[in-house]
Amino acid sequence: TRYMIGNRPLAGQKILITAGPTREPLDPVRYMTNHSSGKMGYALAEAAAEKGAEVTLISGPVTLEQPANIKNYIRVGTANEMFSAVKDNLANQDIVIKSAAVSDYRPKTYEDKKIKKGSGDLNLTLTRNPDILQWIGKHKNDNQIIVGFAAETNDVMENGINKLKKKNMDIIIINDVTRADAGFGTDTNCVTLIDKKGNKKDYPVMPKKELAHVIFDYITHDYSDSIT
Ligand code: CTP
Ligand code: CA
Repeated sequence: TRYMIGNRPLAGQKILITAGPTREPLDPVRYMTNHSSGKMGYALAEAAAEKGAEVTLISGPVTLEQPANIKNYIRVGTANEMFSAVKDNLANQDIVIKSAAVSDYRPKTYEDKKIKKGSGDLNLTLTRNPDILQWIGKHKNDNQIIVGFAAETNDVMENGINKLKKKNMDIIIINDVTRADAGFGTDTNCVTLIDKKGNKKDYPVMPKKELAHVIFDYITHDYSDSIT
């Protein structure tokens, strides 16, 4: 296979990984976010570096330490900041993995003074954030392998396969976030991987750090073999 070089099968490969949530401010003291811990993305970054890749990690706000041996570590807050960091770093990447849980919406207006409470309800208007992965799918070149995640609570497989196609991904990793041993915040994960050729793999529950290696083994062996 094309990447096998001793025990550093990703040597010479440039890999871009996004991780964690994004944080969308409403005023100087408040923001919207989600439950992403960044553990899956950081495990992927660490595994890629261990396997010899040149890693760029773009991270939303998380409490994790910067993984060892990362070439390029970029911290961002909002989805728009993550989007521009991705655009700045996309060229020349061989593999892009979007494990970040990007906020789909942000408050439409940012109040630069703290919003004071009134007696009635407070209505917020939210506006759509850019879909970073969909943009990557449109602008990728033929040699780039694009890997996305899907976080689902219902119709898990069907929704996941639809996202794979809609965003022009090569591989999707589908997460049922209703499971206690998978998804947000946990140290373990349980996923199904589907690629654009229709190959499907169900993996058992395992630590995120181990799953990260399993995902790269899939990319360097099964996936690359099936496209060459
Ligand atoms: N994603 C992204 N930019 C967004 C939203 C999602 O890049 N604004 C990426 C995520 O990083 C993930 C994939 O798209 O790799 C799927 O994210 P998910 O939230 O599961 O799907 P959505 O397309 O946002 O659909 P929905 O949340 O409505 O299920
Ligand atoms: Ca979403």
